[in-house]
Amino acid sequence: MIVTTKELFQHAYGKYAVGAYNINNLEQAMGLFRGNLGKLESADAAVDEAVAAPFIIQISRGARSYTDKRMLEAVIRGADEVFPEAVFAVHLDHGTEESCYDCIDSGFYSSVMIDASHEDFEENIAITKRVVERAHAKGIVVEAELGQLGGVEEDIEVSEEHASLTDPDQAVEFVERTGCDSLAVAIGTSHGAYKFAGGQGLHFDRIEAIQGLLPDFPLVMHGSSSVPKEWVDRINEAGGDMPGASGVPEDQYLPAAKLGVTKVNIDTDGRLVWCAIHREFFRDKPAEFDLRGPGKPFMNAYAEFIAHKNQKLGSAGQLAGVKETLAVTA
Ligand code: G3H
Ligand code: 13P
Ligand code: ZN
Repeated sequence: MIVTTKELFQHAYGKYAVGAYNINNLEQAMGLFRGNLGKLESADAAVDEAVAAPFIIQISRGARSYTDKRMLEAVIRGADEVFPEAVFAVHLDHGTEESCYDCIDSGFYSSVMIDASHEDFEENIAITKRVVERAHAKGIVVEAELGQLGGVEEDIEVSEEHASLTDPDQAVEFVERTGCDSLAVAIGTSHGAYKFAGGQGLHFDRIEAIQGLLPDFPLVMHGSSSVPKEWVDRINEAGGDMPGASGVPEDQYLPAAKLGVTKVNIDTDGRLVWCAIHREFFRDKPAEFDLRGPGKPFMNAYAEFIAHKNQKLGSAGQLAGVKETLAVTA
């Protein structure tokens, strides 16, 4: 069932992080739901309560236009019907003012992200405030962003020297003046498969400083893929060319969650799983041309990957508790 992002945050805050996974197609949706319910062998398997996790599905603007936003939304509605045990929120990732309004008015989304972080401070506040007013009027919560991550985000590329960590004092003023419900903070990560070019990791001192001034306020970490060496190696061994890819060490998720990082955004890792499985399949079976050939192992591998990620985020095994809090009878 689709719930509000706020309800998921209330259960998770300070204890674990909710995985926010970007999807673009049917196979990702299938693997995502199965992984979050611990149905690793098949969609018909019983829910594994030790593994089952609440989660957030993120749809980027690119994903909305990849086929047609209605196609992807219909896939999610279908998954909700096929997997009635799942508890999740639907979120617009990196929205513009216009796409936020579209999602708010559609009635389908639990939350939207307004990303005006590339604007100056005052303009970011003005835009975010307008979106918050319109979203709150419909009971939808808003994630905003302050600070600049490096890497590619939608169609905007930010070089490492232009990336800037979130200023804690500014964060307090920003939250107070906009009324946003969660804040994406720049704490050393970047989007994509090539993070930490300068060798640095997460800036825990910065997270701590922000949480000190904004206690109980959910923070969001973008660019959180761990870019597992295992998957990069498999891609490279199957004909890929991804030298020097690296990501956020997975054992840093939980310490960050304890400091208020309540939503952890993961897209790139899912793409790596997709890429490795498809490259290997067609390398090993050059006469094959049926898309379902690699599709099946991809869904299995993606489900396994999601279940693993949720262990690292601490969200694995939390589904029953969330349902209790929501007084949901599954
Ligand atoms: O932060 C960006 C996300 O990874 C979405 O990427 O715009 O290519 O769908 P995308
Ligand atoms: P990654 O590129 O690290 O997966 O980050 C995804 C993200 O932040 C989506 O908003
Ligand atoms: Zn992002």
